[in-house]
Amino acid sequence: MKMGSQNYFKVLIICLIAIIGSTHAQLQLGFYAKSCPKAEKIILKYVHKHIPHVPSLAAALIRLHFHDCFVRGCDASVLVNSTQSNTAERDSFPNLTLRGFEFIDTVKSIVEAECPGVVSCADILALTARDSVHSIGGPFWKVPTGRRDGTISKTADVLLGLPAPFHNVSTLLTLFGNVGLDAKDLVLLSGAHTIGVSHCSTISTRLYNFTGKGDQDPDLDSKYAKNLKTRKCKDINDQTTLIEMDPGSRNTFDLGYYKQVVKNRGLFQSDATLLKSSTTKSIIDQQLKSNKKFFIEFAKSMEKMGRINVKVGTDGEIRKHCSLVN
Ligand code: HEM
Repeated sequence: MKMGSQNYFKVLIICLIAIIGSTHAQLQLGFYAKSCPKAEKIILKYVHKHIPHVPSLAAALIRLHFHDCFVRGCDASVLVNSTQSNTAERDSFPNLTLRGFEFIDTVKSIVEAECPGVVSCADILALTARDSVHSIGGPFWKVPTGRRDGTISKTADVLLGLPAPFHNVSTLLTLFGNVGLDAKDLVLLSGAHTIGVSHCSTISTRLYNFTGKGDQDPDLDSKYAKNLKTRKCKDINDQTTLIEMDPGSRNTFDLGYYKQVVKNRGLFQSDATLLKSSTTKSIIDQQLKSNKKFFIEFAKSMEKMGRINVKVGTDGEIRKHCSLVN
């Protein structure tokens, strides 16, 4: 009996240690304050020095962070190169249009020079995306740190987790729901399409062959479609031409995206479909009332997105190079 109770206490203590350990292992603001106190400043300085010369990279970097978080959580799995035996996320079809990998690699090498093996690629990506968007006049959001890098990156995971431009609102809500995000997050985060560009090929079906009969998507404003077809996407097979998602202000983070969407000028079906549900439509209408509120709400959703399935504590690793698992 005595032995039994001793064992009972041992198990209890082990459980308590495990619980305390796991509650300690979570993201926190300034996670590197002791282990690499200059890390966040180094990143900010680099971003402030370079993004003004290439403001379009801000769009690429926030998209990179989004594609990272939706597949296996924010663990930098999107940055890993394919090998002979593994096709990584990066080489999946939706990720072929991602940009900004070299920028992240350079930031990582500068941070590594300061503190080798301390700061994760997942945190570097989250911080760089935030600082880049803020440096072009966009919102600022909190980035608690302490993410660790994943060791698995598989192309097949991308199509399962990542929303596609042809998805309707119910599929989008399911995919966002799968990672703990709701309708408000869907509308707010889609607002990032106020910056950046798309390829004509992404909307060629909408413009030229929507139902297989050489027709146009009726949900796309016909004047706008005609304009795109005569000036930009002149050919259904065009794979290279880029178009602004928020024409005239692709480097300005503003309400332009929502203004486009309510005029049926959202570029993708995934943008247009946000008008089809009364819930998402009313969230759009809310945003259109105040740029300031949009920034505040966008920041909340970004912080939430940055927490998706993060690896913390002793999970994963701190990669030496962002494109290579250690
Ligand atoms: C709701 C589901 C979403 C879908 C279906 C979607 C889809 C796409 C597609 C297809 C492109 C253009 C690809 C190309 O043709 O080059 C794109 C670009 C972009 N997306 Fe999304 N996206 C979504 C949500 C998001 C979110 C949540 C963010 C960030 C928070 C984001 C940020 C961007 C940015 C900034 C670009 C422009 C990138 C550049 O200029 O290189 N998107 N998106």
